[in-house]
Amino acid sequence: MIKISPSVLASDFSKLGEEAVLMEKCGADYLHLDVMDGHFVPNISFGAPVIKAVRPLTKLVFDVHLMISEPLDYISDFVKAGADIITFHYESNSDVSETLDKIHASGCKAGISLKPGTPAEAVFPYLDKTDMVLVMTVEPGFGGQSFMFDMMDKIKKIKTEIVRRSLDVDIQVDGGINEETVSVAAEAGANVFVAGSAVFRADNPESVIDSLRNNATL
Ligand code: DX5
Ligand code: ZN
Repeated sequence: MIKISPSVLASDFSKLGEEAVLMEKCGADYLHLDVMDGHFVPNISFGAPVIKAVRPLTKLVFDVHLMISEPLDYISDFVKAGADIITFHYESNSDVSETLDKIHASGCKAGISLKPGTPAEAVFPYLDKTDMVLVMTVEPGFGGQSFMFDMMDKIKKIKTEIVRRSLDVDIQVDGGINEETVSVAAEAGANVFVAGSAVFRADNPESVIDSLRNNATL
C-alpha cells in the first residue's frame, strides 16, 4: 500500500495549520512531522505542543519522526499531542524494545529509523514488533539534501527479510525524495514516501503528490 507523507519541515511555519489542511486537500495520506532536539541531530525544529496545535485541523495520519536522543522519555507527550505513528531512531539512547512496547501500549503504530551508516541487519531482531522501518536516504537533520542512492541495497535487504518471514512491515524512505527518486526507492521495496522540499516548494503540490504516487506504483 503506497502512502505519501509530506514533511512539514519544508512548509511555511507561520501558517502550519493551513499547510496541513492544504496537504489533506492535495491528497496526502500522512503528514510527516520532524522533531529535532539539537542533540541527536544538529538542528532544532518543534515539539509536541506544536503538533497538538495542528491536530484538530486535519484528519491526516500524523507520522511523527523523532530525531531526539531520549525518545522513550517523550513518547507519552507525543501520544497526547495526537501522533498516530511514532518513529524513533535505532541510534538513540533509548532501549529499542522498551520504546516499541511503550508506543504500542499507547495505541500508536511504531517505527524504527536507521541513519545512513547503520546496517539493515540492526532492525532484524525487532521486525516482528515493528510496524514500519524508516530508511534515511540523507543524514537526518535538514531538508533539501540529495538522495543517497547507495541506501537502496539496505532497503532491498530489509524488504527481503520482511518477505522471508511473512511479516507486515512498511518500509518508509525519507530524504531527497522527488518525482524521479521515488521510483528508485519503490523499486528497491519502499512503500511509504516522505517528501519535504519536493512538495512544499512546488507551485502545484497536488500534482507533485499525484506524480509521487504514480511513479511509486510499480
Ligand atoms: C530530514 C527529515 C526529512 C526532511 C526531508 O532529517 O527527516 O523528513 O524533511 O526533506 P526533503 O524531502 O527536502 O529531503
Ligand atoms: Zn523525517
